[in-house]
Amino acid sequence: MGKAAPAFPFFVSGFDTLMKNELGKRLSAIVTEATTAIAEASATSDLEKIRVDLLGRQGSLTALLKSVGTLPEAKRRSFGLAVNEAKDSVNGQLEQRRVALATSQRAAAVEQEVIDVTLPGRSTGQGSVHPITRSRRRIEEIFTRIGFNVVHGPEIEDDFHNFEALNIPPDHPARAMHDTFYLSPGIVLRTHTSPVQIRYMETQDPPLQVIAPGRVYRCDSDVTHTPMFHQVEGLAVDTDISFADLKGVLTFFIREFFEQDLPVRFRPSYFPFTEPSAEVDIGCVFCKGGGCRVCQQSGWLEILGCGMVHPEVFRHVGIDNDQYTGYAFGLGIERLTMLRYGVDDLRLFFDNEIAFLRQFS
Ligand code: PHE
Repeated sequence: MGKAAPAFPFFVSGFDTLMKNELGKRLSAIVTEATTAIAEASATSDLEKIRVDLLGRQGSLTALLKSVGTLPEAKRRSFGLAVNEAKDSVNGQLEQRRVALATSQRAAAVEQEVIDVTLPGRSTGQGSVHPITRSRRRIEEIFTRIGFNVVHGPEIEDDFHNFEALNIPPDHPARAMHDTFYLSPGIVLRTHTSPVQIRYMETQDPPLQVIAPGRVYRCDSDVTHTPMFHQVEGLAVDTDISFADLKGVLTFFIREFFEQDLPVRFRPSYFPFTEPSAEVDIGCVFCKGGGCRVCQQSGWLEILGCGMVHPEVFRHVGIDNDQYTGYAFGLGIERLTMLRYGVDDLRLFFDNEIAFLRQFS
């Protein structure tokens, strides 16, 4: 807060003489006028205008100050002092008035402000779990119910775990199908969750029964492919695991997941890391097997790949192939989710349209 400004600031020697001349009168008139104007100002913008009129580059006080130099030597000092005091006085009054205006404005605002505690609050909108996350949790829940543990592996993988140990050597044609993102030579974004099988078997002894959900990456993008998607890997290894166990577990899973007694078929297929290998089809959930556009009139939809763990994979992780057998499977979460909820465009999962996501809350 500025110091209190005296109404008549010219207690300077030689004042009387000064007052008698033209300049002195002008100075006095300017200050008197300013004092009135400042007292009457009702907004800070008024104060600013007054300040510019007086003390700006073209201001009247500024002009007087400039004229000091033109005065005879004898009067220069006393008049200079008087103008400077006038300036200080005006500045002080401006500041005082500014503070007073701000205080009364604030008081008026507080006076006016009413808080109606009976008004309804602003809603923040309830979020919902993403459909892919919902599916993943459902899948985890179904498998943990029958004795599977949930494990995880890194998304940045080395060539050994993503390919080599899965019986996919460097020149194997299966590599071409994987559309791999290479981060540097020998380091990739995993193209499937199968490397988690390897990491788990490297560190754990059978019996094993795990699923490994997570993100996988392929350099591929169109209506049915996104560069990142989600898989769930399954692996069971024990002394007497057979293909019948695989069939039983997957059939159970499919009927739990779709909550329907869907027809399930195992069709011979090929993966380098399983032998024998199969792809699993379910009766088309859209046409109930009658044939439609989605199932390309076949009445069947492919939903996952599986098979018995290849002896070459066991060899890479040091598990005795004579003593143990195992099965593995891999499924795509997006695909299962689309089929279960009747979503016809994969990209909807990644657009994050609230209207779409809200349907899953
Ligand atoms: N990793 C395979 C894929 O991504 C799926 C699979 C997993 C097949 C385990 C067989 C056994 O296509």
